[in-house]
Amino acid sequence: MLKSGFDEDFLWGGAISASQADGGWMQGGKGKNTQDCRWLDGTWSHERVEEKHQNNPFSSVELETALSDDGTDFYPFRRGIDFYHHYKDDIALFEEMGLRLFRTSICWSRIFPNGDDAEPNAEGIAFYHDMFSECHKHGIKVFCTMLHYDIPVNLVTKYGGWKSRRTIEFFTRYVETIVDALGDVVDFWLPFNEFNAGRFSPWDGVCLVRDAEGDSFDQEVFQCLHHEFVANARAVQIVHEKLPGTPVGGMIARFCTYPATCKPEDNLQAIQDDQYANWFYTDVMTRGKYPAYMDRYFDRLGIKIEIEEGDEELLSENTVDFLAFSYYFSQISTTSQGWEKTAGNLVMANKNPYLETSEWGWQMDPIGLRVTLNQMWDRYQLPLYIAENGLGTADLLNEDGTIHDGYRIDYLRRHVECLKQAVIDGVDVRGYMVWGFIDVVACGPLTMDKRYGLIYVDLDNCGKGSGKRYRKDSFYWYQRCIASNGRDL
Ligand code: BG6
Repeated sequence: MLKSGFDEDFLWGGAISASQADGGWMQGGKGKNTQDCRWLDGTWSHERVEEKHQNNPFSSVELETALSDDGTDFYPFRRGIDFYHHYKDDIALFEEMGLRLFRTSICWSRIFPNGDDAEPNAEGIAFYHDMFSECHKHGIKVFCTMLHYDIPVNLVTKYGGWKSRRTIEFFTRYVETIVDALGDVVDFWLPFNEFNAGRFSPWDGVCLVRDAEGDSFDQEVFQCLHHEFVANARAVQIVHEKLPGTPVGGMIARFCTYPATCKPEDNLQAIQDDQYANWFYTDVMTRGKYPAYMDRYFDRLGIKIEIEEGDEELLSENTVDFLAFSYYFSQISTTSQGWEKTAGNLVMANKNPYLETSEWGWQMDPIGLRVTLNQMWDRYQLPLYIAENGLGTADLLNEDGTIHDGYRIDYLRRHVECLKQAVIDGVDVRGYMVWGFIDVVACGPLTMDKRYGLIYVDLDNCGKGSGKRYRKDSFYWYQRCIASNGRDL
């Protein structure tokens, strides 16, 4: 029967991640992780690291600085928004907004400070148990990411991160621990944030530290990704065994891709870009095997993935229950040379002349969200969740404590309207999470001034400010949207 809008139990949500929000640097028994050790110097820290150290930030003398206990000024992820100490008040504010679903991640190095410890850190477990229980007290469900880019540093320096199969073993121990300890307060599990980030931003995604320049790069990336696929299947297996009935899903950063023209070559290019950037990851996680189209791709790049005995069975027997994706922009595919470029989430995109860009250069395309939802539903027929969507801009805090972010309301309204159309199209989409719905440290630029929040946090790029929270105009807009279940936009 034709739907007229959202089901009554649609999950209106908000998302953040531990490294961008928690702070609590080295408190409560936490160990260092790779996000803590990215530094701010006015440019994107990866680029600086790559230039200076041949993509290996842990190979130089600066390693010592990066791993030192001070320097919080230059390491914004060490402060976040101090959610570590504010979460009770913040969660009360989330309830006032009407939030039904809260997505955040667990910081692995708060549970296993070195990644390979024999015993978990009880204080870290208690922290998350309390945070998630607090959500439930306020009637908010918990959507928990197990790994959002922050791998314990020791696993990278000692074992090479996801290059090593040992990391699967340590991840499995971590998953068993959190599923046992937090299973009663988590409603949805997500083993990995943006699985395909491993391809497009290897430092974040798979935490790849390169030993050598050149030919081995693609090989190493895909070997790391294979280890992550195996780890993902183990996580799915563990959740299914220990918590039957609790859904566990897979997620990618979805790059909605259009052919630049109706030229057949452009159309073929769009199909292939979609396979290599998007479908590959969701195909493996839902269908439990590597798709045939990747053989040709691997052959072209000279990639030979080492697959151990038992891996294929594990992948095929442990597929995900739902799919989630982040959606920020769309881009176009073409075989033409010299096409204008613009920025995007994790990638530089070919510019679409029909779309406006945000002040950070990301192309805004609400219809692309509807396209994406229809494509994913057609292909998999699995429940879908939008794990991230939102607009990063500078906001102005007025003297009277107001923040007039009509541009953000406009962005969200246009996306939610297209989401509603997708529901009416018949897509089984069950939740929508506004990214950074409380301001957090932006992941790419490592700054506070790229704000996504509906709640303003009074901290600047250097961590100065009162830390006080303010309701932006968009807070009240989302409150009305949720209260009316998407009717009053
Ligand atoms: C996603 C990440 O890729 O994009 C988030 O999962 C990130 O962690 C978000 O914050 C927006 O990117 P940025 O660089 O604007 O913070």
